Amino acid sequence: MTRTVTSVVDGKPVTDGRRAASTNPADLDDVVAEVVFTEATTFADAAAAAKHAQPAWADIPAPVRGRAIAHIGRAVEDNAEALARLVTREIGKPYAEALGEVREVVDTCDFFLGEGRRLYGQTVPSEMPDKQLFTFRNPVGAVAVITAGNFPVAVPSWYIVPALLTGNTIIWKPAEYSPAVSNAFHELFVRGGGLPDGVFNLVHADGEQTFAGLSAALDAGHVDKVGFTGSSAVGRKIGELTGRHLQTACLELGGKNPLVVASSADIDLAVEGALFSGFGTAGQRCTSLGTAIVHESLHDDFLARFTKAVDQAVVGDPSGDVLMGPLLDQKFAARYEEFLGWVHPHHTVHGATGRIGPDNPRDGFDGDPARGLCGQPVLGDGGRAGDAIFDEETFGPIVGVTTYATLDDAIRLANAPGYGLSSSIYTTDPKEAYTFRRRVGAGMVSVNNSTSGAEAHLPFGGNGKSGNGSRQSGIWVLDQFTRWQAMNWDYSGRLQKAQMDVVELAPDPDVRLTQ
Ligand code: UN1
Repeated sequence: MTRTVTSVVDGKPVTDGRRAASTNPADLDDVVAEVVFTEATTFADAAAAAKHAQPAWADIPAPVRGRAIAHIGRAVEDNAEALARLVTREIGKPYAEALGEVREVVDTCDFFLGEGRRLYGQTVPSEMPDKQLFTFRNPVGAVAVITAGNFPVAVPSWYIVPALLTGNTIIWKPAEYSPAVSNAFHELFVRGGGLPDGVFNLVHADGEQTFAGLSAALDAGHVDKVGFTGSSAVGRKIGELTGRHLQTACLELGGKNPLVVASSADIDLAVEGALFSGFGTAGQRCTSLGTAIVHESLHDDFLARFTKAVDQAVVGDPSGDVLMGPLLDQKFAARYEEFLGWVHPHHTVHGATGRIGPDNPRDGFDGDPARGLCGQPVLGDGGRAGDAIFDEETFGPIVGVTTYATLDDAIRLANAPGYGLSSSIYTTDPKEAYTFRRRVGAGMVSVNNSTSGAEAHLPFGGNGKSGNGSRQSGIWVLDQFTRWQAMNWDYSGRLQKAQMDVVELAPDPDVRLTQ
């Protein structure tokens, strides 16, 4: 029997709406769940519920909220295999990666459970006697979180865990193609953490209805912060909408992440990194490799070894030991075919491209390719700035290779697409590594490591088309979900006017040492 998953608003399921099937992208006959999509009004209702529940949630002492995060982390850990299996089944992420993604939720809980006992403010000296200054972190309020489905549990946790810990309530709109995973995540959080009704609301809706609902909720004053992970195009719209309400959204957008292979690089290590970051998650990470920028002296060797590694990689059934499984769903499979239309005669593509199937087979495919949405891993040499395939994110298994002569060229090529999420350099020269770090526009830099696989307690986020400078994870995300409040307390019993009633000492401007 197929399970039905619904939105949950103020603790109650919302059973009215359009019903659709969520299918397994590796086996389209396998219906993972039936999902009930709701409309803008449900989003607005969820925001009202979150807003209403927020003051009581903020009144719970932060260390107690930290305990809730500890319980959630334990619930996720106790259910790690089941959750990872569901991730694999619903979005086709290879099981080992799915398990890693679930681990990232636990890591995030591990980090923030202790933050409930810190959430430090400062005591600050006053310029006046008998007066003390303080700072406090206050929760922002009701937080709308809109996330993509390529990381259907890790990325939502990056928003939801710190937002809850700091005393905010949540309206979460997950991707339309990962509803079963989303409800499992929601259940682990609400039941596993013992969250009161209204604290964590879940809304299944399409993008248009979500935008309308968000807009209405902002007008009603029921949303105080928006977190969004997805495309740069939608991020712009969310940024505009929230800007009109004098809010700054936390935006985590696309990437065209460069991997520079310098002349001193260990080529095999660089190939291994390029293979994983280019084709792991079928190239559908925001941190996935876009273009390998290879020193001209190594280009032919690198390309030959990379091509061989891609040819030998196992593609297919994501529950097995494969480098890559299917595209996330039909929309992404169709977009992958569109991106292939960006290949021009001056690009050299090795081997087959397009959807893998009976007419377009792949050696060593694990399983029956006709059942799912697997694409051929594509390696294209010779891209240059000005080519769409070089400039734009191609969310899928498409990787470019290009060459450079000087480090200046490499950095210029790395920055040319105008994104700025992740980046990588393979080198054994510290000067080169530091110069690259300083001049690359990316928010994240790897040295001798791939562009993907950021650890869950470093600031995560980008610049340029990759975001508006917001950072998630670790201590840095606290600034997204809290506002600083300054307090001064004068216990002198008189009005002491700042800047005016300040004692001045008398310096001697003529002081000089005699020898
Ligand atoms: C994303 O694709 O939105 O750094 C997040 C990484 C993962 C997270 C990716 N830890 O690749």
